[in-house]
Amino acid sequence: MNVHSLFDLSGKVAIVTGGGDGIGKGSCEILAQSGASIVVSDLMLDKAQAVADEIISNGGKAIAVACNVLKDEDLVNLVDMTVAKFGTVNILVNNAGGGGGGRENPFKVDRAYFERIFNFNVFSTWRLCQLVVPHMAKSGYGSIVNITSMGSINKSPNMSAYAASKAALNHMAANLAFDFGPMGVRINNVGPGATKTHALSTVLTPEIEEKMLAHSPIKRLGEVIDITGAVLYFAAPVSQWVSGQTLFVNGGGVQTLD
Ligand SMILES: NC(=O)c1ccc[n+]([C@@H]2O[C@H](COP(=O)([O-])OP(=O)(O)OC[C@H]3O[C@@H](n4cnc5c(N)ncnc54)[C@H](O)[C@@H]3O)[C@@H](O)[C@H]2O)c1
Repeated sequence: MNVHSLFDLSGKVAIVTGGGDGIGKGSCEILAQSGASIVVSDLMLDKAQAVADEIISNGGKAIAVACNVLKDEDLVNLVDMTVAKFGTVNILVNNAGGGGGGRENPFKVDRAYFERIFNFNVFSTWRLCQLVVPHMAKSGYGSIVNITSMGSINKSPNMSAYAASKAALNHMAANLAFDFGPMGVRINNVGPGATKTHALSTVLTPEIEEKMLAHSPIKRLGEVIDITGAVLYFAAPVSQWVSGQTLFVNGGGVQTLD
């Protein structure tokens, strides 16, 4: 295999959740540039459609599908639409997720909130894996990439739901690797540090940024391309003997909100 073929995704079909913005959008773009056909899915169909249109205008193949990952019927529809349009699924980027932001005071959030965050970050990922892996196994190529977080290993106040759910995601993938490996499917996690997206902009202040950089050897926050390079690595044949792993992409540092 030459270097090009190690990163070549020609003929592969990729689903990205939350693909309309931020890390999801960047994942769609880099996988498309590597030759994959992309199913851009998002809660906001107009944002997904704009990303799909851009990929098509650059010569790639893409469709947009509305999908709220909190709804089981949307997850089923997402996989059905993908198979109907492109015939199979080879790559899944479980990117849609969230919570945290230092807003999880345990005496101010209720059980329903905690359950929602687990639904968002863990159950939706597990369910999509269950739906796509048979297609991946049949096609002979499967790679799942979950977007976890530095929050999964940091210890911070008011982050317990998000942190616990992302930690669960890490360990779930390490275990699912054993279930899926014999079927020819790999599963890995990318754990971003603070990365410049809309989600980060809702919590970042100049003071927080200064503190984050004080604990980072590389003196800048992450850009989307820093994270999507790791997504491409796990999606592509270059990582064909890598499964069950979590790679933290964080400038070598620890960025917390407190
Ligand atoms: N940006 C960071 O610093 C950072 C750090 C660690 C982890 N992450 C993780 O990266 C992932 C993406 O975050 P981001 O910063 O790119 O966010 P973002 O806000 O830039 O984009 C999120 C996208 O997801 C979509 N979305 C929201 N709810 C959805 C739902 N229920 N179903 C489907 N789509 C939905 C939004 O419409 C949006 O297009 C998340 O899992 C997040 O936890 C981000």
